Amino acid sequence: MSDAIATRPLGADVGRLDGPRKVTGAAIYAYEHPLTDPAYVFPLLSTAARGRVVGIDAAEAQRLPGVLAVLTHEPAPKLADTSNPELAVLQSPAIHFRGQIVGAVVAESLEIGAHAAALVCIEEQASEHDVVLRVDHPDVFKPDDDETDTAHGDAEAGLCPAATVDATYTTPHQHQGAMEPHTSVALWSDDTLRLYESTQSVHGVRETIAEVFGLRAEQVEVTAPFVGGGFGSKGEVHANTVLAVMAARAVPGRPVKLALTRRQVFTLGSHRTPTIQRVRLGADASGGLLAITHDVWAHTSRVQVYIDQIAAATRMMYAAPSIATTHRLAPLDVPFPSWMRAPSEAPGMYALECAIDELAVALRIDAIELRIHNDPPADPVSGKPWSSRNLVACLRQGAERFGWAGRDPAPRRRRDGRWLAGTGVAGSTYPVFHTPGSQARVEFRADGRYEVSIGAMDVGTGTWTSLAQVAAEALGVPLERVALQIGDTALPYSHVPGGSAGITSWGATLFGAARAFRDRHGDDPAPGDAVTAGAPDNPAEDAYAMHAFGAHFAEVRVDADTGEVRVPRMLGVFAIGRVVNPRTARSQLIGGMTFGLSMALHEEVVMDAALGAIVTTDLAGYHIAANADVGDIDAAWIDEIDPHVNAMGTKGIGELGIVGSAAAIANAVFHATGIRVRDLPITPDKLLRARVELSARA
Ligand code: MOS
Repeated sequence: MSDAIATRPLGADVGRLDGPRKVTGAAIYAYEHPLTDPAYVFPLLSTAARGRVVGIDAAEAQRLPGVLAVLTHEPAPKLADTSNPELAVLQSPAIHFRGQIVGAVVAESLEIGAHAAALVCIEEQASEHDVVLRVDHPDVFKPDDDETDTAHGDAEAGLCPAATVDATYTTPHQHQGAMEPHTSVALWSDDTLRLYESTQSVHGVRETIAEVFGLRAEQVEVTAPFVGGGFGSKGEVHANTVLAVMAARAVPGRPVKLALTRRQVFTLGSHRTPTIQRVRLGADASGGLLAITHDVWAHTSRVQVYIDQIAAATRMMYAAPSIATTHRLAPLDVPFPSWMRAPSEAPGMYALECAIDELAVALRIDAIELRIHNDPPADPVSGKPWSSRNLVACLRQGAERFGWAGRDPAPRRRRDGRWLAGTGVAGSTYPVFHTPGSQARVEFRADGRYEVSIGAMDVGTGTWTSLAQVAAEALGVPLERVALQIGDTALPYSHVPGGSAGITSWGATLFGAARAFRDRHGDDPAPGDAVTAGAPDNPAEDAYAMHAFGAHFAEVRVDADTGEVRVPRMLGVFAIGRVVNPRTARSQLIGGMTFGLSMALHEEVVMDAALGAIVTTDLAGYHIAANADVGDIDAAWIDEIDPHVNAMGTKGIGELGIVGSAAAIANAVFHATGIRVRDLPITPDKLLRARVELSARA
């Protein structure tokens, strides 16, 4: 890299601009906004998984000093729009899952609220419930969605006479587990509602809450300068926000605070649906794929359809003359599923990349060479050219750095005392999403700095820093001359940054606004000069298939006696276009890989089928990989120039790290042990049971 490029804002290794505020506690999160005389909301949750509330006795709670109001469905504060059953809080006595909001106490303190909540008697009439996903569930249906079933070529013929791989993989109900719980602080003044919210989208909250309460959008002001993680769970509005707004109406003039407890987050904060995935691969003897089929079953709430396009990556990952995918949903009495950490690709690519590994084993072809052999020159289904596709470079560079050469593909060959050792590889991909319609404002100030405003937000990934770098680049000024404003609906409209589209969408918007500003005011503006603008359309978006890629490598050690799996080494090599900030980029990628490790070995929401209850409702029972679980982990990227994606040449990176990483570990576990666990997470009991079965057969 030349010095001239290194000193440009885009690509500079800049530490977090908000770091000092965060480590000194000066960064204000939703619950902490200093407000006079707040009241506290404590939700009451259903204990039946399905049924109705038939009686409520709140008399004792209401007599408790410090209790300001008890909210229940009778009388319920009427909502203007009840079309989304998740947000139709207290609008009927119906219970759709265990842990649903059936009431709330508003009190002078959180402690009084919690105590009073325990004094409210709620009588429920339970109906028969079902929370177990299965392929032969009688209510399984084909969702009404264009992408549900796709067929390219004649897949069944390609699988003839027999599929080389025909395997079924399952992933469990998972939970996003953000550190900061879902939190809303609500305050009505006259006709205006102010919300301090832990959200991934201030404008999304404004729009949804305005609809639900029958307000004009401008009547809802939302502020979220700092957010302690979301992982999709805060991308859409959930019931807690509606309840907080209702509660604020019940105590006029006072702000109310509602932070879900960890237990409550597990049912009200959404989750990733469990999946059952059958993958069939037909191939010729040299490993050329002839057909790929991917059939997916997932669950949804009985009262609302939610779909993750779990087979989406299967339709573009490898070249095959025929590719067919199907998707079915089982309506169950479960909490509402939503987005979580690469909602579609993370579970889908776990299955596909394990199946590819099984094919490599079956055909005795190196797992990397098999992938390279099937790398498609253009999008196999649409036929569109790639804006850039560098999976092969990622695989080759990763193999070199990881030390793949000379790997004995036969399983269970390396033993070190009681430890069985193995290595695995998997591919990764994630679409380059761009949500159009955002706006940004650029104003030149008297202090010589450019104030750049956009209703973007920082969920903890480093947006305060990376977006300021993009703005400086777009304006052609050093980073110090940019004053970035984000995290408030008072700023120009911005879409939710889901799908790793934050920097690509906001950045393109900032480039559009900067260009408009420079066209109007030149590079020597006067104080007060300002322009609000968005990004021009990108005609390449329809012409090219745009995706990021990567290759994951993992080394595992499995205790031959206990089945404990350790991961001493993980390496990811990615093709992500231009890198805005190598420090925050690496941090995001290894964070995603850690989530992949977590998905492979740890994360599982356990449901008690008899009660319809989630029993893992804390971060001890629901373990997310911690420092002690992670060994030597590293992420690198190749030099990639993509001239088509956007003005910066960037691809999203937030979710890419997780996609495929669980498969790399599962493939390494097979290599170490000879045992193929197709049911995540890979826990010791599954390895031990398989070992017993293996030795019984031997
Ligand atoms: Mo993210 S799971 O796309 O909000």
